[in-house]
Amino acid sequence: MCNGIRIVATGLDVPEKIMSSEDFEKIVETSDEWIRTRTGIKNRHFLCAGETHLDMAMRAALKAIDSAGIDRQQIGTVLVATFASDQYVPSCAALLQERLGLSEDVLAYDLNAACSGFMFGLESVRGILSVSEKPYALLVGAEALSRRLDMTDRSTCILFGDGAGAAIVEKSDRPAVISCRTRGDITKILVDRYVHMDGQGVYKFAVKEVPKLIEEVLAKAGVSADEVDHFICHQANARILQSVAKSLDQPMEKFYQNLQEFGNTSAASVPIVMAQMNDLGLLKRGERVVLAGFGAGLTWSVATFLW
Ligand code: ACO
Repeated sequence: MCNGIRIVATGLDVPEKIMSSEDFEKIVETSDEWIRTRTGIKNRHFLCAGETHLDMAMRAALKAIDSAGIDRQQIGTVLVATFASDQYVPSCAALLQERLGLSEDVLAYDLNAACSGFMFGLESVRGILSVSEKPYALLVGAEALSRRLDMTDRSTCILFGDGAGAAIVEKSDRPAVISCRTRGDITKILVDRYVHMDGQGVYKFAVKEVPKLIEEVLAKAGVSADEVDHFICHQANARILQSVAKSLDQPMEKFYQNLQEFGNTSAASVPIVMAQMNDLGLLKRGERVVLAGFGAGLTWSVATFLW
């Protein structure tokens, strides 16, 4: 499928409360040094009691809509990628429809593809936009992960943070290549009440499969890794990013990192990186971007298009 998409505008939101690695030293047997050298993470943002997943999604969405400068009644689709929201039903997307004052003829639903959720959402939006009467889709990745952490499990609780990233997406003539992969596997990551993870298993999966899929997608797009300006990747571990860069023979400067400040925000991770880069003026129209994510499912996904 070669229908194109264009990201018109972006927005992000994280809670004010910061949990530093030093804060975790008081909760579990760990150290700032262990966390920094194994993962690259320093801080993450956690919701306080009374703050909601919907609040973050709403603020990120509003920033994207305001920055796009569009009439919000032209939004025909609202998708929220999430597995850690405050309630399963109603969906976060449905509540956004009401809070944003969108008309009732929007297609609004949540989707769960864990940390690959934003790219799975992008592929869904691409299909929907090709048949939609309205030109814009609002795509949000939002997670209240702090509420799914076992704070006695040092192998998981130090990794994750809360946040939301949003994008206004429209149809474009310029082609996009998006590939989404799924492998049912309950052994590496399982989220029931809490997140359980075989860290090393996920690590090995990511460093093997992510560069392979990036190469496949770039070959389909007919471009080389050297022609990519920015690799906007899921922020799980700095060593995974370094390994992907090495496999592709690309400099780390092309891999923007914010995991030191936000930790792993799952489905919010890629849109938060994108929105932060956009706010900093690092993304120029016409530049080639690659979006890449991986996580529970297992799922992994890569997209490439021109910014
Ligand atoms: N502080 C101190 N020691 C720790 C901590 C901690 N926070 N956590 C684990 N350890 C210990 C372990 O108990 C183990 O001790 P042992 O050797 O005495 O048994 C030792 O450190 C090494 O543990 P490993 O798990 O082998 O550590 P590793 O180097 O693999 O790093 C990590 C763990 C950071 C989780 C890494 O494997 C990783 O990043 N994996 C990828 C995770 C990921 O990408 N997840 C994304 C998907 S998440 C989703 O979809 C929801």
